[in-house]
Amino acid sequence: MSEATRVHWDTRHRVHDDLASGGHTGLDRAGNEIFYAVRLGALLPLIGDVSDGAAPLFVLDAGCGKGHFARALARCGHRVDAFDVSEEAVAHARARGGGPRWAVASLDEWRSPWPYDVVLCVDVLFHLLDDAEWAAGLRNLASLVRLTGRLILTDEDPGTRRPRGEHILHRPAAEYTGLLAPLGLRHTLFTPYGFRENEVGFHVFTRTR
Ligand SMILES: C[S@@+](CC[C@H](N)C(=O)[O-])C[C@H]1O[C@@H](n2cnc3c(N)ncnc32)[C@H](O)[C@@H]1O
Repeated sequence: MSEATRVHWDTRHRVHDDLASGGHTGLDRAGNEIFYAVRLGALLPLIGDVSDGAAPLFVLDAGCGKGHFARALARCGHRVDAFDVSEEAVAHARARGGGPRWAVASLDEWRSPWPYDVVLCVDVLFHLLDDAEWAAGLRNLASLVRLTGRLILTDEDPGTRRPRGEHILHRPAAEYTGLLAPLGLRHTLFTPYGFRENEVGFHVFTRTR
């Protein structure tokens, strides 16, 4: 990752509040509350409604920002690891606590002694403009999913690549599938966020081998 990108995220996390910095900088506080609530509502059914204190789901939130989703999943009884490349974001998440184990790392760096039931990556991959960085991050996330576990990531599903502004490149599902299928992850679902005109949604990939 370039130093400029790192500075971009640290600055965004320093300047904006806990929701706008990882949510939508163009929305006011109330809009971001709804944006997060709608997405959490769409996400929970993808993870399932089982919560067993004796055998929690192991969940990884990759690119967790200030930790909104990670904390919510910890409250749902899951055992959550969460990391982000922005030290600023992780310092904020750590100060707030809430259950997850927090760390600073990039998508291609995170290592774990255990595989996860669910690897979650919300609104991060379409910010990776560099294809090699995108592929290395995605490959690493795939390697962290246990057999029958799920990789849940977000992007639009455009017919062709769709750049938006300076910091976004939406890639078609075929690009994700092309990389993940040979690694044993099958594309099982796409659920749009269903938030206003936003065309991003959750892609679910399930490890079948
Ligand atoms: C739009 S925010 C989303 C944050 C969080 N997932 C959420 O939904 O609240 C994108 C996040 O990705 C992080 N990020 C960007 N590139 C990354 C990388 N290569 N590895 C890890 N995190 C990255 C940024 O620091 C930022 O916190």
